[in-house]
Amino acid sequence: MKLIIDTDPGVDDAMAIIYAALAPDIELLGLTTVFGNVNIEQATRNALWLLEFIGQDAAVAKGAAMTLEGKTIAPSYNVHGDEGFGEYPAQKPKHSALEETAAEFLCRMAREHKGELVVCPIGPITNIAHAIQLDPEFATNVKKIVFMGGAAKVPGNITPHAEANTYHDPHALNIVINSGANVTMVGLDVTMLEPCQEEFFDNLAEVSPKFGGFLQEISRFYLKFYESIGVQGCGFHDPAAVIACTHPELFSTEQLPINVIEEGEEFGQTQICLEDEAPKISVCIDADMAQVKAIYNRVFGVDA
Ligand code: BDR
Ligand code: CA
Repeated sequence: MKLIIDTDPGVDDAMAIIYAALAPDIELLGLTTVFGNVNIEQATRNALWLLEFIGQDAAVAKGAAMTLEGKTIAPSYNVHGDEGFGEYPAQKPKHSALEETAAEFLCRMAREHKGELVVCPIGPITNIAHAIQLDPEFATNVKKIVFMGGAAKVPGNITPHAEANTYHDPHALNIVINSGANVTMVGLDVTMLEPCQEEFFDNLAEVSPKFGGFLQEISRFYLKFYESIGVQGCGFHDPAAVIACTHPELFSTEQLPINVIEEGEEFGQTQICLEDEAPKISVCIDADMAQVKAIYNRVFGVDA
C-alpha cells in the first residue's frame, strides 16, 4: 500500500512511523509534518531524523506551523517531552525537508498515484485541509484518508469532550469530512481500548534492540504522563491508525454523520449529528486490539 503519514512526532507517532517503515505491506512514500505534540521545526527535524535512524530514504515535506485559521497552539511537551521523544535528546538530521510544502507534496503524490495513495494523518489535520484547498481534485485522487483523532462514543482526552488532534484544528477536520474524500476516523473509541503497558515495550526491546530499544526508552516519559492522569499504560493511538489503513478487517466501523464542534464548551468534539446533516464517514467503534498489536509486534520480530 502506498502511504503518506502526516505527523507531529511525538512518542506514539514514532511508534507508527517505525512500524510503517518496517511493514512489508507498506510503501512509505513520505512523511508530512505538522505542529501539535511539538512545534513545526521540531516535528520536521524529528521526522527527518527518524527516517535516517530507520535507514529509509522516504521524503519529508514540512507543513503547517499553525491552525488553518492562523492560531498558534502550545505544543504538548508535558505528554511527549520537550523535544518530542520523552527525555531522549534532540538529534540533528543530515538531510533537509523538500522545497515543496506538505500540501504541495500531498497534492502531487495524490496526482501521480491517483486512486492508490492512502494518507494517514496522525496529528492535527491542517495539512490535509490545505491540500484540499490547493487542489480541488486532491480529495478524489486519494484512495482514502484514515486519520487518528476524535472520540465518537467515548469522552475526550484533552477536554471531557475532545480528543487532542481534533481539538487542535476542528475547522480543518470539518473541511476534510466535507471534501468528498473516503474518510475513516480512528479515534479514542479504539485507541484506548487496550493501553500499552511497560512489558509491551520490554518485549519489543528484547527482540529488536535498535528500534524496540528506542521505543522502550522514549515511551517511559509517555507512560509516566498517563500514570499521572490515572491511566495504567499509554494510548496506542497513531500505530492503530496506520494498521487500520492496511488491516481494516480488524476494525468495526459505523457510517456516521460527524460534525466537529468549532466553538463553545464542546470545542473540538467529533459529534454524531442526530439529523444526518453532516456527511457520513467510517468511524471505528471497536477493534480486535489483541490482533492489531500482534501485527505490530510481528514486524519487530516479536511472536504473538
Ligand atoms: C493524539 O494526540 C497526540 O498527542 C498523539 O500523538 C496522538 O496523535 C492522541 O490524542
Ligand atoms: Ca500524533
